[in-house]
Amino acid sequence: MKIKLWFGAAAVALVAVVQAQDMSDEAIAERIKPHASLKIAGAEDASASAGAGGPRSGETVYNNACVACHGAGVLGAPKLQVAADWQPRIDERGMDMLLQNAINGYNAMPPKGTCGDCSDNEIQAAIDYMIEGT
Ligand code: HEC
Repeated sequence: MKIKLWFGAAAVALVAVVQAQDMSDEAIAERIKPHASLKIAGAEDASASAGAGGPRSGETVYNNACVACHGAGVLGAPKLQVAADWQPRIDERGMDMLLQNAINGYNAMPPKGTCGDCSDNEIQAAIDYMIEGT
């Protein structure tokens, strides 16, 4: 009897989990969209790696690899598009040095921001995106 009860509870929990997922047509279409548009238009897949689909945009690289620290300024990371965080670094070191530090690592900043398959150009694009408007 105890075992039956347990199974019952497990089944209820399982149903709850399945129902919690949004299975509407709209949600499913949204989920498969990048692949669908890639097939139809042959457009650049923003999530593809450099080898497969050309370079990713700075924004894509940032959102994949940099936001974890540069979004909130974790460990003192200069924050996205906050001039007060970036300008002193640009003034002090210049853009080339910033790029070199991003590629090679700098204090708590890991090499390539842990984006191991990022090209130097993609790192540069991510930096350009982060300092945009500063
Ligand atoms: C694990 C956290 C972390 C991630 C992930 C990360 N950064 Fe950083 N980054 C830092 C920290 C911390 C600093 C500040 C280091 C310092 O000044 O001591 C920094 C500094 C920088 C700087 C300034 C370097 C300088 O010379 O002043 C650049 C440029 C940079 N990051 C680019 C990136 C890019 C591009 C990515 C994503 C591809 C990225 N970071 C991902 C933590 C991170």
